[in-house]
This record gives sequence, structure tokens and C-alpha cells, in this order.
Amino acid sequence: MCGIVGIVSTKEVSSRIVNSLRKLEYRGYDSAGIATIVEGNINEVKREGRVDFLEKDILKLNLKGDIGIGHVRWATHGKPSKINAHPHSSDQVSVVHNGIIENSTILKKLLEKKGYIFKSQTDTEVIAHLVTDYLKKNSLKSTIIKVLKKLHGSFALGIIFKDRNDLIIGARRGSPLAVGYGPNENYLGSDSYALKSMTNKISYLDDGEFCIIKKDQIEFFEAHGVKINKKVLNLSKEDTYYEKGDYKYFMEKEIDEQPSTLNDCINEYIDKHNNQINLYNFPWKMNLFKSIVLIGCGTAYHSCLVAKYWIEQNTSLDVSIDIASEFRYRKVRFKNDCLYVFVSQSGETADTYAALELCKKNKMKTCAVVNVVESSIAREADLVLPIYCGQEIGVASTKAFLGQMLVLYILSIKISFDQKFINKHEYQSKIKNLLLLSNSAKKTLKLDHKILNIGKVFAHAKGCMFLGRGYSFPIALEGALKLKELAYVHAEGYPAGEMKHGPLALIEEGMPVVVIAPRDDHYKKTMSNMQEVIARGAKVLLITTKSKDEITSENIWEIIEVDQLNNELIPFLITIPLQKLAFYSALEKGYDIDKPRNLAKSVTVE
Ligand code: F6R
Repeated sequence: MCGIVGIVSTKEVSSRIVNSLRKLEYRGYDSAGIATIVEGNINEVKREGRVDFLEKDILKLNLKGDIGIGHVRWATHGKPSKINAHPHSSDQVSVVHNGIIENSTILKKLLEKKGYIFKSQTDTEVIAHLVTDYLKKNSLKSTIIKVLKKLHGSFALGIIFKDRNDLIIGARRGSPLAVGYGPNENYLGSDSYALKSMTNKISYLDDGEFCIIKKDQIEFFEAHGVKINKKVLNLSKEDTYYEKGDYKYFMEKEIDEQPSTLNDCINEYIDKHNNQINLYNFPWKMNLFKSIVLIGCGTAYHSCLVAKYWIEQNTSLDVSIDIASEFRYRKVRFKNDCLYVFVSQSGETADTYAALELCKKNKMKTCAVVNVVESSIAREADLVLPIYCGQEIGVASTKAFLGQMLVLYILSIKISFDQKFINKHEYQSKIKNLLLLSNSAKKTLKLDHKILNIGKVFAHAKGCMFLGRGYSFPIALEGALKLKELAYVHAEGYPAGEMKHGPLALIEEGMPVVVIAPRDDHYKKTMSNMQEVIARGAKVLLITTKSKDEITSENIWEIIEVDQLNNELIPFLITIPLQKLAFYSALEKGYDIDKPRNLAKSVTVE
């Protein structure tokens, strides 16, 4: 989604802003732009499409300037185009913005009445004109305080001024924003990745705060303008920007990395020597909790769904799961004996963050399961459980999904043992089984060649279904989501037992259907459901676990078998062929696998 970079320096900034924008490309965007100030003039360069195109234009124009802001845009108000790309400038100021200004229509009307002329269809342009208007009668600082008060919605802002080539304003409400400290220069960025090649010294703005960034000083203020101090964090020194290596696509690499990311995460949480789980930083007594609520969006939500089965199976806690965008607007009855768990790869998803804030406001106990440990969600939660899978660049989440499930599974076993729901022998046997997971994941990846051909059929389907029972139902949802987002094929996930209540009507001759039926307690029932779709002409891909017992059903189109581990671990293995299926379907159609249309990696708007 949108990304911001700003630099105030004594050296030229445009090439470094472009480099930092490149680091934000993974978030998904449709246009890019930059503005610098040279001799009292604002110089803007904007382009639809890639940062590479923007760079060519910047080089052609020989864009100068020791102060500047840059942006990658993911369209919300107004289609992707050069004119709607940020920065948006008046004759006085230039603005980059992440988020949505909800009252932009009203503000625009008021400003138009005053004679301001709008060039774009964006909500952001009102900020440029509003700042310009207030500047006529106010000092710079009081302009910012007043403008921020006028804006409804969420935002991270970077603003430069025609007559002030010494400072950048940064402001935050809802959308994340970081500042970085450099030698005789300072920076603004929508996340620390954007700034990592320039500095490892970072501060984060909290909601409602703004800052004035000069080359030798950064001042922070709360919403009313009272000066505040901020902690300076030292991030790890190396620039952890992640490369494709020998792979053509990040997603392919990220799928293949899963055995090692699972292993890394297991190494962080399992004390192999004593065969126990390390969760020393857990700040509460387990018997404090009677219930648990798991909250996330998209793929992260699917990991919560799988965890619901584990927690119900292994603990006495009442478990609910919620989609963050629903949770935040429901009349939730908060309970003191409940643990609220927020699952998010990026740690910046606006809905998940807002749901967390709501819980914090109600003084609930909160835990974040995140990949990015410097993220807003991680910083806000009482307890952070990282998934340790390294940067995920492909917009479609793969290794993070397995990481989220793994951490939630480990948490469930830990609670189970602490609650004495399982005895020491059962506890240690679950841990021993977990240590087998990475190797079985590696074997599952070898089924590749078979899935390549199956993908060619799914790629051209009009629609398809993914069916499963128990743990396999959320995995069916995840398989369908991956196919939708990468191959743009209409796909639905259903509990296999639900088919006869309606969706069976959709089955027609040749329709590809994935049936997920590991040899668990649901096997026979799911196999019967499979027969019902085969009888109506479906082309079934069966995903099951290896067994010495033969599969007796007839007319199955293709079968994929993964290792038969402990039933609780099967969701990890059956996910892998589904990720590959979506990958190969998209490859067959020649789509942009790492950046599917209309989607963004970090969803920082509602
Ligand atoms: C799907 C996908 C999305 C994300 C969702 C939440 O492949 O990636 O559905 O899972 O946008 O993102 P995070 O986990 O960053 O909160």
C-alpha cells in the first residue's frame, strides 16, 4: 500500500529517495512521485507505474534539491494516474499522504469556494490547499495543529514548504510513520525498511503526534503542540533487504523457504534439550484466562481459524475468532479474563491495529503474533510473539501463514500444559512431533512437478471449489483465497459437509474441485462428500496423507499425498500444495505473481 519517504540534508536527495521508494515497492502500488525544493520552487516529478519509470524521468530532468519527499501510491480516491500520484502541491506546499481523509469532500467544497483549484481526484490534495490557507494567517506550527484537527480519518503525512528548505513536517494518525537520524541529515519514512539503508537509528510517531524534521534536529509534539521526547531505537545494523536469489518470483522463493522458516521459528520457541516450550516472557498466569479471542484479516484470519480447532482441542478456554474489520465495529463485551490475540504479518494492517487499540482502550490483555517486530501492532501489544520468518515480499502471504499457525500452535500447547489439560508425556510428545514438521514440509515441496500440470487446468477454470472438514476447512479457505488473488479465478472454500446445503448446485461437468481429506477423524465423511461432487461431474484433486490403506474411491482426477504426521500438524503440510497450485495457475496465465492486481502487501487503509 502507499509508502512515504522524506530526506532533509546538505546533499542532493532525489536518488536516495528513489532508492528508499524501491524498498517500499513490496507493499504494492500503482504510481510514484517525488518533490524537492530548489531555490524557492517546488519541483514535482510523478509517474503512473513503476519506480523505475519515475527514476528515468528524474534523471532526464536532472532533479536537484537537498530536501524532498517521495511516495508510492495505492489508489483509494481516484484511479491510478500521473495526476493522482503523490506528492500533491499548491503554490506553497507539497504533501505525501498514506491513509484516507474521510471529510475530504466537505473540505474540498469549502476550499473551492475560497478559490482554490483542484487538479486531482484525490482526498490528499485538500491537505495541500488547507495548509496553504492556514499559513496565510498562522505560524507554521499552529497551521499544522489546526490542519490536523480539521482532518477526519487516518493519515501519515510528509509536508515540505516552498519557503522553508530547511524542514519537513511529519504527522501521524492511524497510519504508521517513522523518523530516522543521520549524519547531518534526517529522514521520514512510512516504515523502517524504507530508511534502513540510510540509518539504523529510528523513532516512531504515536497516534496524534507530529514532528519537525531539520537536518540537525528533530522535534516531536503531541496534538496540541506540547513538545515531547521520543525514544531512539537502534535497529539491527545490516540492511536486511531481501533478494530473489536464483528465483524469478519472491513468492516461489518464500514457499520454498518454508522448511527453514518453520525450523527457525521452532528453534526460537522450543528448548530441544529439555523438550519444552520457551515462552519466558509470557506476563500472565495461564489460569487467569477463561477465554481467548483471535483476530486478523485475510490469510492471518485463516491462521486464527485453524488455531481455534487446536485451542478447543487442547485447552479449556472458550475460543472466538474475529475478522478485524468486523470486530472493531461490533458491540464487543470485553472480559478481563480473556486474552486478545492479534495476528498480522506486517503488523501494520489498519483494521487489526484499530481492533488492538480498541482492546487497549478497554484495558484488555493483548498479544501480537507478527512478522515485523518493529511494527505498530507489535509496539502496542502487551506481549509480542514473532513468527521469525524473515521479510515476506510476495503480496500473497505464504511463509507467514505457516509461521502464524506455528506460533499459535505452540501457544496452544503451552496453555494446554500450563492448564494441566495435557500431562507431561503428552506435552513432550507434541513437541517431539513438531520437530518432524520441517523435514516433512521439505518432502511436500518435492511434489512440485505434479502440481505444475494441475495448475494449468485450474488456471483456465470458470470457477472452482476447495472442500475440507475440521482443520482442513480453514485450509480450504486459504487455498481458495490464494487462487483468487494470484490467478484471478473465482474460487470458494467450503466445509465439505455444507455442500449439500446449497453450493452443490454449482457443480457441473469438468469443474475443478480440491478435496482436502487427510487420514484423520473426518476422512470417511469427506471422501463421501467427494463422491457427491464426482457424481455431478467435478474434476477432483484429492489432497490427502500417505497411508498403507489404498484409496478405494474411483474417478478421482489427481491425488497428492503428504506425510501423515500427528493430525494436528497436517494443516501445515496440506497448505503447501495449495500455495503451489495458485502459483502455477498464475504462472500459466503469465500474471504478475508477486504483485497481483488491485492488492497491496501492507493494508494501511480501512
Ligand atoms: C493474502 C494476504 C492478505 C493478508 C491480510 C492481512 O495472501 O496476504 O489476506 O493476510 O491483508 O495482512 P497482515 O497479515 O499483514 O495483517
